[in-house]
Amino acid sequence: MNRQKGRVIWLVGLSGSGKSTLADALAEMLGHSGQHRIYRLDGDTLRDGLNSDLGFKQQDRDENLRRAAHVARLFAEEGYVVIASFISPLESQRQMVRAQFGPDQYSEVWLSTPLSVCEQRDPKGLYRKARQGLIPEFTGIDSAFETPECCDLMLNTATQTVSGSVQELVRELKL
Ligand code: ADX
Repeated sequence: MNRQKGRVIWLVGLSGSGKSTLADALAEMLGHSGQHRIYRLDGDTLRDGLNSDLGFKQQDRDENLRRAAHVARLFAEEGYVVIASFISPLESQRQMVRAQFGPDQYSEVWLSTPLSVCEQRDPKGLYRKARQGLIPEFTGIDSAFETPECCDLMLNTATQTVSGSVQELVRELKL
């Protein structure tokens, strides 16, 4: 296990697209296999602590993702499989994250679940609040999510089960 080469699976997509759910399911599956040391990194968790000084303007999101990528790199260098879930709304941010890693070490997975589905799910009630004007700069409502241009894998959680998505991830990324 100690000789294992680390790598980073970076899940991007709108709030409610299923990033955390899929990341948790993948982490559990890989953890059970006993072949990988897993580290989970999540936007909400980091924003609770390390990144609690940051908001959602572009500059803050840039910094949020810069720090997240740095932490991911530290763990990957120790041989962990890092499963990261961050909206990562702009292509420039995704390129900045990708640039931290070698090509064999990093995979960007786009959860392309449509906004209408994410908004209908609204697991945290945030879209409703954003529509009421209570949360400014909410991604997909009044803050951009640019279509990823060079993701390694695209998954639509509106049409695929969680376990189906996990299986596709493992197969396509050869985990
Ligand atoms: S990112 O844009 O910088 O990549 P990140 O993934 O860390 O975002 O955080 C997104 C989480 O913050 C969402 O899942 C949601 O719970 C919360 N959130 C609070 N305000 C916003 C907002 N204005 N836009 C998007 N997410 C928000």
